[in-house]
Amino acid sequence: MNWSRSKSTHRRIVPSLPVAGQLVPRPLVAGLLSAGLLSAGLLATGCGVQPAESESVVAEASGPDPLQYPRWETVGPGENLDYNQRLSLVQRGHEVYSKYCIGCHGEYGDGHGPASQRLLTRPRDFTSGIYKFRSTDAGSLPLEEDLDRTIKRGLARVSMPAFRLMPEGERLAVIEYIKSFYADWEEEKGRRRIVPVPHPPEDLMQPARVDRGRMVYLQMGCWKCHGVDGRGEGATQTEYIDAWGDPQAAFDFTRGSLKGGNSPQDIYRTFHTGLRSIMPSFGGETLAAVSGDGFIGAEDYLSTAEVAELTPLLAEFPAEAATIFNDMSEGERSQLAERNSWDLVAYILSLRDRSTTAEAVLGPVAAVQTGADGPNEEHRIDG
Ligand code: HEC
Ligand code: HEC
Repeated sequence: MNWSRSKSTHRRIVPSLPVAGQLVPRPLVAGLLSAGLLSAGLLATGCGVQPAESESVVAEASGPDPLQYPRWETVGPGENLDYNQRLSLVQRGHEVYSKYCIGCHGEYGDGHGPASQRLLTRPRDFTSGIYKFRSTDAGSLPLEEDLDRTIKRGLARVSMPAFRLMPEGERLAVIEYIKSFYADWEEEKGRRRIVPVPHPPEDLMQPARVDRGRMVYLQMGCWKCHGVDGRGEGATQTEYIDAWGDPQAAFDFTRGSLKGGNSPQDIYRTFHTGLRSIMPSFGGETLAAVSGDGFIGAEDYLSTAEVAELTPLLAEFPAEAATIFNDMSEGERSQLAERNSWDLVAYILSLRDRSTTAEAVLGPVAAVQTGADGPNEEHRIDG
């Protein structure tokens, strides 16, 4: 189905949305909010159960029935079916949203739902059009598939639950609905650029890769935020303010699941696309730039012993950064960037505790893939 509409059509849909809200009397809205809170609590356990309470509050969350919406009659002659379908989807998405998301993400999609006040990592403000978990480049909106993945898997280490049991139709509808909070979606979506994620090499966890990966990690400056040991030790800054004005600490690579997923490809995607807010993107050929001279000055952040230990590794990299960009062909450069990327993935995986590393490398183990990483309610700002 193709829902892409011209901007003017899209704009007409958005103002119609509050009407859906008016269908629900005020006291019920309060009820919905607490139901939202309740489902938040229930779902935060990661089990994806559908809260029974909300059944009595929300009339019908499945199957859009045009007769339920008086506003439908105002869809004038000449409006094509596609428009109706889209409107139907957004209306239905509104119901799904009111049931499961509103408690955190808020009635207006700005992340200020009643439950958000108790959360250290704020629910996403969908009106900003800024998204962390994308398969697109740093400046782009996410793909619908990305939203779908996040909703299905949930996000580890934060309160965003995994809606594993939500039927596909409801997911599609709620995705259309949250997109509608950002007025420029239709206009900007054409500029999305997908960041390709290749298959990992078979020898991914070879010790030689892990060792080189440490060199890549240091020269790319990952240590400045994540620490020289991957746990924050020696980081030049430990707390950042994210794009929405909230504090956000860098990830401790030794513990917890990754929000963007734990598989080698997930990790590759995460640092290639960046998380937009603070965690930068290391796209294109950036990762080729690891060299002998790039290690000059490492004494500033490493012990002399470690500098001595790592120096022999430089034989595996070009001696001068300048040669990478002046003398290498584009193909050679991207090969090098590719090797460095996977080495970096190997190094990051090597920092994780044993069980998670095994799971990450050996493939999908349900609990890890879905972000059910123990209690999702946060105790610390590590979002
Ligand atoms: C218990 C609170 C809670 C509930 C309920 C909740 N979310 Fe979230 N959600 C969050 C938090 C917190 C984040 C931000 C995580 C971060 O920034 O790392 C988030 C992030 C997201 C993102 C990721 C956006 C990005 O940057 O890529 C999407 C998509 C999302 N939520 C959709 C939904 C949908 C759809 C629902 C309802 C079906 C829902 N959420 C219900 C708390 C919640
Ligand atoms: C400017 C600071 C900064 C730099 C530099 C940085 N990061 Fe991050 N990184 C962060 C922050 C902050 C987070 C946590 C973001 C969040 O949880 O929303 C993070 C999170 C991550 C995550 C976990 C994401 C997830 O799915 O939970 C990975 C993997 C990661 N960084 C890899 C890297 C790598 C590899 C480098 C170097 C190539 C790097 N980072 C450089 C700030 C930084």
